[in-house]
Amino acid sequence: MYTFERFAQEIKQALVATGLLTEDQIDLSVPKAKGATGDLALPCFKAAKAQGGNPAQLAQQLAQQLTLPADGLIGTVEVAGPYVNFSLRQAAFAAEVLHDVAERGEHYGCADNATGRTVIVEYSSPNIAKRMHVGHIRSTIIGQAIANLYACSGYQVVRDNHLGDYGKQFGVMIAAVQRYGRPDAEGEAALEQMEGIYQRYNNLLRDAAAADEEFNPDAEGDLDDEARAWSLKLEQDDPQAVELWQWMVDLTKAANQRNYDRLGVHFDTQHGESFYKHLLGEVINAAGESELAERDNGAVIIKDLPDARGKTLPTFLIQRSDGGTLYITRDIATIKHREATYDPAAIIYIVGQPQELHFRQTFALARALGYTDAELTHVSFGTVFDAQGQALSTRKGNMIYLEALLDESYTRAKALIEQKVAEGKTTLSAEQIDAVAKQVGVGAVIYNDLYQDPKRNITVDWDRMLAFEGNSAPYLQYMHARCCSILREGAPLAADYSAALLVHPTEQSLLKEIARLPEVVREAAERFAPFVIADWLYATARAFSAFYDACSVLKAETAELRAARLHLVDATAQALRNGLALLSIQAPERM
Ligand code: ARG
Repeated sequence: MYTFERFAQEIKQALVATGLLTEDQIDLSVPKAKGATGDLALPCFKAAKAQGGNPAQLAQQLAQQLTLPADGLIGTVEVAGPYVNFSLRQAAFAAEVLHDVAERGEHYGCADNATGRTVIVEYSSPNIAKRMHVGHIRSTIIGQAIANLYACSGYQVVRDNHLGDYGKQFGVMIAAVQRYGRPDAEGEAALEQMEGIYQRYNNLLRDAAAADEEFNPDAEGDLDDEARAWSLKLEQDDPQAVELWQWMVDLTKAANQRNYDRLGVHFDTQHGESFYKHLLGEVINAAGESELAERDNGAVIIKDLPDARGKTLPTFLIQRSDGGTLYITRDIATIKHREATYDPAAIIYIVGQPQELHFRQTFALARALGYTDAELTHVSFGTVFDAQGQALSTRKGNMIYLEALLDESYTRAKALIEQKVAEGKTTLSAEQIDAVAKQVGVGAVIYNDLYQDPKRNITVDWDRMLAFEGNSAPYLQYMHARCCSILREGAPLAADYSAALLVHPTEQSLLKEIARLPEVVREAAERFAPFVIADWLYATARAFSAFYDACSVLKAETAELRAARLHLVDATAQALRNGLALLSIQAPERM
């Protein structure tokens, strides 16, 4: 249990001990009224109502009859109308918060106990033989943070990269590779070449179709047949087709891995859609036999399916008339597999807003077929705009790919840090500059995706992303590095110190921010909202800055105060580091 929870528990115990109310009549809340005193309040309405009494009177009685533990966390008790307000005892509070942080270290903020339940977080999920577009980048970054949050909340997390490796276009791609040869580049450039030859083959098909109308009736037919034949061979597990397809899968995975490594992203499984193909027949049969289905010329159609809120969903297919399956069929099969393999408490999909309807349909059908009782959530996110306010698009030619994005961020971060060094604001070796530029560059890209609600659109605005002031990754990293530098100068930390000395308002405010991390983690996970962590980080960094402006650490008035403040700085650094780690942002010790 963490300090704030212990505080609440002490209050409850003291209240129940009066015999004036029962535990279920107690709902503590944080006083919000302007000028309200106290850290937790008991509104007496519920209890008074249950007893047929007057809330203000009950509040008075409670305050008179409370006995507080002598060395507990409760300081003062005040009545304000129908509320009883409880304030923290500052000395005990400071000691307990610092103790919580020191005891748990890098786990500070996380749940103390495992839930014993599994959560599947599916994110990134790019398509084979293509570069990741901004949607995949957002999914990668947001998904990684949500997976971290669930792991920290005591869940067993399965991080799943659901690759798009299935479909007719793979026939075209194989035909194109046969015709033009395999790409010779590496990394994202190899994928760019794949896109290029795919495009070239498609152009050929299109030109042949146009020419065809005039004089060459066979041209398009031949090319088209070639692609179709490969597609069929792939479906029938022809070894050569499978080999070529597998080669594309490996090439893509290797190329993406370089970016994942830079971002600190890893997965537990990377099954593509095709992995679930053995389940497609069962899914189509089960759905086809249900009363939801209509069959038409071999096609299986789902009509009038209500979604979770009872709204009727638009009609959709789960089998084409040629027997082919659809994206949704494969998603349903995936759910069936996951249920059997992991018995998950929840499956969380991080996919862009354009697929919202797809997931409503997927979830509704999976439920209707009784395939899972897991909580199914689509965390959807908005688009990305460039600094000129244009949505990024391949067609407009302003698309940003991940490798280039990370490269540019690194280059810009490096220039900024070199400038700081040149101005004498910091001293770093060439090696350190490089390492810090990497951490700051990646951090800026990640934070840009996470500092606000994922539903909102984001802008790639380098000046804001890399600003060392304001709500940005470099600012948070810088505040952490600042703590580290104070700790280096003040080393070693005294083993014995008196936290009771930390009663300055800015010290208490900073302690309160630090103490909030556990509940902030819970809230962020529950709401699928990494920005709740970002908000907390920013608030904590500012609280630290206010403390540092008001209180001297290294030159504190007494040696005892200096020792206590150094411990506060140490706890701040740890808490900031933990918060940043939840977003997969690194915390350099020097900047
Ligand atoms: N590969 C898909 C795309 O690029 C995203 C997959 C999302 N996940 C899913 N289970 N459908 O659009």
